[in-house]
This record gives sequence, structure tokens and C-alpha cells, in this order.
Amino acid sequence: MNKLLIALLVSVGITGVAQAAGDAAAGQAKTAICAACHGVDGNSAVGNFPKLAGQNESYLLKQLKDIQSGERQVVEMTGMLNGLSEQDLENISAYFASNNVQPGAAKADLVEAGEKIYRGGIESKGVAACTACHGPSGDGIESAGYPQLAGQHAQYTEAQLKNFRVESRMNDPQRMMRDIAAKLSDKEIQAVSSYIQGLR
Ligand code: HEC
Ligand code: HEC
Repeated sequence: MNKLLIALLVSVGITGVAQAAGDAAAGQAKTAICAACHGVDGNSAVGNFPKLAGQNESYLLKQLKDIQSGERQVVEMTGMLNGLSEQDLENISAYFASNNVQPGAAKADLVEAGEKIYRGGIESKGVAACTACHGPSGDGIESAGYPQLAGQHAQYTEAQLKNFRVESRMNDPQRMMRDIAAKLSDKEIQAVSSYIQGLR
């Protein structure tokens, strides 16, 4: 079976992914408070604050709902989404999705190891290739709710993989990321995260 077909089959298997329907201009008006950490256009300057620019709208909306409900805990954002309606969250998602991510660079000495994991997984441990869901250039799959990873801060990516590993982040459907992260060592997480930072 070719990869595209697998991706299609995977994406139709996921239910409950919201259809993107936001108004970017209306969303921008609600993002003044977000800029301090995520940057005005969503290209945050600091490694522990995720870049939101260019992220898939369906993924952003799911995260905002999960953070609002407490299903995903982000202490730095406590209370910030209170009072925002679902339409507000859709508009904010549309705004950040409409911007372009500014990629970083991978550490030269980690490229080879990181690329191997990203594109081939780790066969001996049963780790699937990241490309299967996040795509060869790290764009993710909008219709399935799979996030863009390309260009994301390595520090943030590393932290998320470790959060999935210890299950302090548990909002991944069908344990997709927890099951993968559980099999990754610190060194493997560091290499693939560095590679993703340089991916474009
Ligand atoms: C005080 C800093 C701060 C502010 C202000 C802030 N955030 Fe965040 N945000 C964070 C941190 C830190 C994380 C990641 C937490 C973690 O490690 O899981 C995050 C995560 C997110 C994520 C998930 C990103 C992903 O890739 O999964 C979204 C979406 C988000 N923020 C949107 C917003 C929006 C919209 C606002 C404004 C209404 C906002 N944030 C304001 C610090 C902040
Ligand atoms: C079977 C599909 C699948 C595979 C394979 C996969 N992922 Fe994911 N990944 C997901 C889904 C789905 C999410 C979003 C979970 C959610 O909704 O919160 C995700 C989220 C992530 C996130 C969090 C993104 C953010 O902005 O917070 C990171 C980091 C990540 N994956 C890295 C990887 C790496 C590295 C690999 C390869 C070792 C990989 N993933 C393989 C499905 C997958």
C-alpha cells in the first residue's frame, strides 16, 4: 500500500476533528495577550513557548479547547481562555494558521541521527516513522488533526515528547504519541527534536 493511501485511511479513521471555519482577522483582535509568549504572529522567540504560526487550524482549535477545559494543563495560560467562546477559539486558530512559521536550524552533529528516526522510525523498538503522520516536510495532516512540527523550537518539542512519555500530557487521541514517546530514550528525543527544528 502506498503512503498516501495509508495517510488517507488513517485520516478517515479519526472522528471528531473540527472543520476549520475561523475568521483570521477577528481572531487577531483577541491575540494581544498571547503575543507576550507566542510572538505577535505566532513565531515565539523563546524555546519553551511553542511557535503557533502556520500550525494546522484543526490542531490549534483542539489544543485551545483542551487547554480551556483543563484536559491539557498549561499553567502559564491559566485563566487566559476563560470567557472565550468556541467561535473565538476558531478565529484565533485561523489567525495563527494563516501566518508562516519561521524555521530554525538543526544542530549539525544531530542531523543524521535525528533524520533517521524522523524518516525511518526505530525498527528494533517498534517506533513508527514520524513521517507517517507528520509528513515528510513536517506539515502534519490538517484533516486528521496531526500537527505541523516543522520549525518548532527543539526545546519545546523535547519537553512535549517527555511529557507524553511520563504521561503528564495525555490529550493525544488513542495514545498515539504516548505509545511512541514511551519507547524513546533521552538521546533519541534530543536528536529528533533538533532535526525537527531545522525541518522546512
Ligand atoms: C505566559 C506565557 C503564555 C501566554 C501569555 C500564552 N501562552 Fe499559550 N502556551 C504557553 C506555554 C508555556 C505553552 C506550552 C506548554 C506545554 O509545555 O505544554 C503554550 C501552549 C499553547 C498552545 C499549544 C501549542 C501546541 O503546539 O500544542 C496553544 C495553541 C496556545 N498556547 C495558544 C495561546 C493563545 C491563543 C494565547 C492567548 C490567548 C496564549 N497561548 C497565551 C505560554 C503562554
Ligand atoms: C500514528 C500517528 C503519529 C505518529 C507515527 C507520530 N505522531 Fe506525533 N502526534 C500525533 C498526533 C495525533 C498528535 C497530536 C495529539 C493531540 O491532539 O494533542 C501528535 C503530536 C506530536 C507532538 C506535539 C506537537 C505540539 O505542537 O505540541 C510532537 C512533538 C510529536 N507529535 C512528535 C512526533 C515524533 C518525533 C514522531 C516520530 C518519532 C511522531 N510524533 C510520530 C500523531 C503521530
